[in-house]
Amino acid sequence: MKLAILGTGFISRFYTEALLAHRRKDTITVVFGRSNEKAKRFADEFNIPHYTSDLYEAVGYPDADSVIVGLSNDMHLEAVLACAAERKHVLCTKPLGRNASEALTMLRAVEKAGIIGGYLEDLCYTPKFLKSLASIQSGAIGDVIWTKSRETHPGPHSDWFWNKERAGGGAIIDLGCHCAAISRNFIGKDIRPVEVMCWADTRVHPIDAEDNAIGLVKYANGAIGQFEVSWSFRGGMDLRDEVMGTEGTIWTNNFLRTGFEMFSTGNRGAYVAEKAESSHGWLFPVGDEVHELGYSHMFTDMFDAIDKSRQPKETFYDGYIVNAILDAAYRSAKTRQWEAVVIEDWRGTDEVKIRHGLVDYDKDHYLIKEEVLPSGEKKIIVKNKITGSIEKR
Ligand SMILES: NC(=O)c1ccc[n+]([C@@H]2O[C@H](COP(=O)([O-])OP(=O)(O)OC[C@H]3O[C@@H](n4cnc5c(N)ncnc54)[C@H](O)[C@@H]3O)[C@@H](O)[C@H]2O)c1
Repeated sequence: MKLAILGTGFISRFYTEALLAHRRKDTITVVFGRSNEKAKRFADEFNIPHYTSDLYEAVGYPDADSVIVGLSNDMHLEAVLACAAERKHVLCTKPLGRNASEALTMLRAVEKAGIIGGYLEDLCYTPKFLKSLASIQSGAIGDVIWTKSRETHPGPHSDWFWNKERAGGGAIIDLGCHCAAISRNFIGKDIRPVEVMCWADTRVHPIDAEDNAIGLVKYANGAIGQFEVSWSFRGGMDLRDEVMGTEGTIWTNNFLRTGFEMFSTGNRGAYVAEKAESSHGWLFPVGDEVHELGYSHMFTDMFDAIDKSRQPKETFYDGYIVNAILDAAYRSAKTRQWEAVVIEDWRGTDEVKIRHGLVDYDKDHYLIKEEVLPSGEKKIIVKNKITGSIEKR
């Protein structure tokens, strides 16, 4: 793959490190940066042969087949439309749009141009996520009834994130997009997200946008995808997921407490991990950040998809659905009501079974609960199918 990368900031650096790691054959041939100076510095550091401060020149660069968008949220639409005009495959970071309307415009543009629009939702490619998803899809934990995805940290690293207009919101759009995408995968992408109830507030920072929020996304099969986001969590970056199924449970911790603990006096401090707040005392480093955050698997899937003219696992359509969910979350935070998820172009199923959880105990009763108590007594609680009475066996 010959790639153009747009952006020289935080995520472009992570992407570039992932792309150049482990003898990968893909090359970045051109980088766009807002200033020539920054673009040159980035190009020099990563041996990129061409740099420019003209976005359109980078997108149209003849020696690049595909474009990676690592720009601030307010620039995604313009960058994607430029790629569509050049008919270059485009891989865009999260969130796809600042809202569903922007995301839908991008989705339609790539489909009209006949190019692949890959949604760079890295947290749906972490090794732990991929294994969890495979376990769920194999039926190992039964029917998923509730998922919980949490991303909290002390707040983002650049000014534009804190500007509600430029970012499209606060912690919900910035972090909730990951959570919504994760839960949607676990519950099933085919299942329609129906409505959202959300609390959001600005608790700590002097900004217009929300810095804390919790939301419940209800799906057509009754499942709930809960998200928890914060820009004021102290102690690093907390990335955790939970899945509750009728036959099992999954808990993952992606960043803090990954099984790697280190103590340092901090006297000769060094980088620990993204958003780590301290470099002394007991620390929680991450072994291979780029890999553990999913970038390696993500780019492999994206490039294989381009090579084989198939869709990647995370597409612009997925980015659009996530934006639609978050739009409903913002409406709900204002109205304090459940708000419908408005999807103009639903491509999943509308035939879903709501799970009732009825397990036969015998021909006249359903089983409610079986438990062995500390006394050794076994309790069996059942419900009479005809009278509805709840009885102990
Ligand atoms: N895990 C992830 O997937 C992840 C993590 C961090 C950021 N991101 C996303 O990556 C994107 C960039 O975030 P970042 O953390 O790299 O931010 P950053 O501030 O470090 O970098 C932003 C880049 O956009 C450029 N830029 C900003 N305003 C511009 C403008 N008006 N015109 C042209 N270029 C402009 C900057 O020069 C810089 O190169 C955002 O959409 C963010 O949500 C994704």
